Amino acid sequence: MKLRLKLFLTLEYVLFILSFVFLYKFNQQPLSISKFIFFALTLFILSNLSVFINTSNKITTQIGIPIIIPAIIILGPFWSSLVTLIGTIPITKLKNNFVWYKFIFNQTIFFLATGCAALTFEITKSFLSTPYFFLPLLIANVIFFVINNGSVFLVMLIENYNQDFSVLLYFLKLTKNIPIVYFLGLLFYYTYINLGQSFLILGIVLIYFSKDILYAHIKRLNHYTQIIESFLKVIDSKDNYTKKHCERVSEYAEIVCRQMQLKPSKTNQIVQMAKIHDIGKICIPDSILKATGHLTDDQYEKMKGHSNYGYELLQDIELISSNLDLIRYHHEHYDGKGYPEGLIGKDIPLGARILATCDAFEVMTNGRLYKPPMTKEKVLAEFKECSGTQFDPQISKLMINLIKAGEFDYIFKDNIKKYEEEYDVAVNFN
Ligand SMILES: [Fe+2]
Ligand SMILES: [Fe+2]
Repeated sequence: MKLRLKLFLTLEYVLFILSFVFLYKFNQQPLSISKFIFFALTLFILSNLSVFINTSNKITTQIGIPIIIPAIIILGPFWSSLVTLIGTIPITKLKNNFVWYKFIFNQTIFFLATGCAALTFEITKSFLSTPYFFLPLLIANVIFFVINNGSVFLVMLIENYNQDFSVLLYFLKLTKNIPIVYFLGLLFYYTYINLGQSFLILGIVLIYFSKDILYAHIKRLNHYTQIIESFLKVIDSKDNYTKKHCERVSEYAEIVCRQMQLKPSKTNQIVQMAKIHDIGKICIPDSILKATGHLTDDQYEKMKGHSNYGYELLQDIELISSNLDLIRYHHEHYDGKGYPEGLIGKDIPLGARILATCDAFEVMTNGRLYKPPMTKEKVLAEFKECSGTQFDPQISKLMINLIKAGEFDYIFKDNIKKYEEEYDVAVNFN
């Protein structure tokens, strides 16, 4: 163990002893054994049973922590601190990798954090002289968070001194737990006061199980995003330009979906599919995909296969298989002259119609080697002309309105200049 870590831990142990003596000496609250046992036992069971890990932001929330709030209000600083000291003992961890100084550190920090939070609550409560204690309780909650997580943060910083400051980011992310703990704590307190211990237990059990359902849902969403991001990497490894194209199409699709006021879940589905809509291009030979001139008829026919390839490639992945029509039909035209199946009008899924519009918009505004980008006026004219033929007239009209409203001005701003620089050519519009 490093010397500075030893010094820090020693300081922390001394602080614990001093605070224990202080809180015991000035304790004015008589002990209610039944309440003490109830809170300590509930906290102990919850601490050892449930840890809620949100994998999207890697934040861990111990569902037992909010029970400390009613303990603070009901038992006062000394007894609530003792409840936390005992109730947070991680029996499962003790069996596996027990490190004595880590164990003592964790338990004493819990005691210190609860003690300071409870003292702050008592002081601010009387100072503010209000019948309600929402604000003092919130301050106490923040104090608990800062001491409890701040000390862990300090240990991590001491151990990784000069190496990695990502722990600070982790600490900042954890602040999201403050409101969760606060509101759950209040809920626990009012349930206990108004309905009694048995209802509090019932409430906790309900939260425990709903947490599992929520967790399963978040896990599913994470897997979905991970699949999409992995395939985006696959596209990138084949052709970086196609990856950037997909990302831009997804960006525009999000703007269109928002404007259409689609449900967030539908929007997410379209945006995610847009990110990989050209995944089928990984099956197209480089000689065609990266051709520097116009494609021959034969090459174009092969290129057209990419929408079906994409569909076939991903159809066995259960999590996204129901959304693959968006990939398959993103080159269909509203008048039935698109590919692969020549679907007409509303037979083309809405998401695929949105993708087709955004896909074409990306090509118009970014250009290709043999095709310079269009000006804003030209793009507007194109959407007017192709409304009802290539594009869904409603989506086309929406695009025209968005472009006129300046929603895409950031694209038009430098697109021609960027194109000229990238391909080292001069664009002539005459
Ligand atoms: Fe495509
Ligand atoms: Fe595309």
